[in-house]
Amino acid sequence: MRVEVLDAAAIGGRGATIIREGIESSGIRVLGVATGGSPGPIYAALAASPPRGVGRVRVFALDEYVGIGSSHPRSYHAAVRREITEPLGLDPASVRVLDGETTDAGAECAAFEAEIAAAGGVDLQILGIGSNGHIAFNEPGADPSSRTRRARLDETTRRDNARFFHSLDDVPTHCLTQGIGTILEARRILLVARGAAKAHAIRQAIEGPRSRALPASWLLDHPDVTVLLDAEAASALTR
Ligand code: GLP
Repeated sequence: MRVEVLDAAAIGGRGATIIREGIESSGIRVLGVATGGSPGPIYAALAASPPRGVGRVRVFALDEYVGIGSSHPRSYHAAVRREITEPLGLDPASVRVLDGETTDAGAECAAFEAEIAAAGGVDLQILGIGSNGHIAFNEPGADPSSRTRRARLDETTRRDNARFFHSLDDVPTHCLTQGIGTILEARRILLVARGAAKAHAIRQAIEGPRSRALPASWLLDHPDVTVLLDAEAASALTR
């Protein structure tokens, strides 16, 4: 695991450079994207100077809410469209987000996994982290070998994400999410965290111990993880 502690303002540029170099050297053909506030500056920096050949990249998003439509501004469909697909000029057909409106979650999740496999697997997965240590929407207690599935949101997550909605009552209770096992199959992982609220989760993700109580700690089992942190997110590290 490589850990870089950077000025908050430098994280976007650094993350974009890692992704740009990967795409331009043809190493990244399939990119996994995360939503949430932390990776936003990376997408903005990428959009300011799109990588050569980005139009050939397939994109898979980590998760989606259940119960709000894809046209809802807080859906991850909308976030991916706004922050990634449109600014990078990607063909929407090459960008796959789980369908939170499906009536058959099992079939949708199985189809999603099959599409990742058919694309050759994810070359680089961008990840944020919840204050409770979740990755995608794999909440505390999630099985480390879990696959893409319908899941319930932790109340901590609902409260954390309420800032994006009118009120806590409007925050969905369920989601579709890639599993921890799915995420760990990506060839390379880029984890981004900013702010003191992430410090505790980041410490365990980097220093261990591995535990179901902190899903990001399973990243310790992955051979190629780069972590970009600001000073606040790094503030609880002991080494
Ligand atoms: C959401 C997403 C996660 C994301 C997390 C952190 O709940 N499902 O994929 O990593 O929030 O978001 P933020 O970066 O806004 O703190």
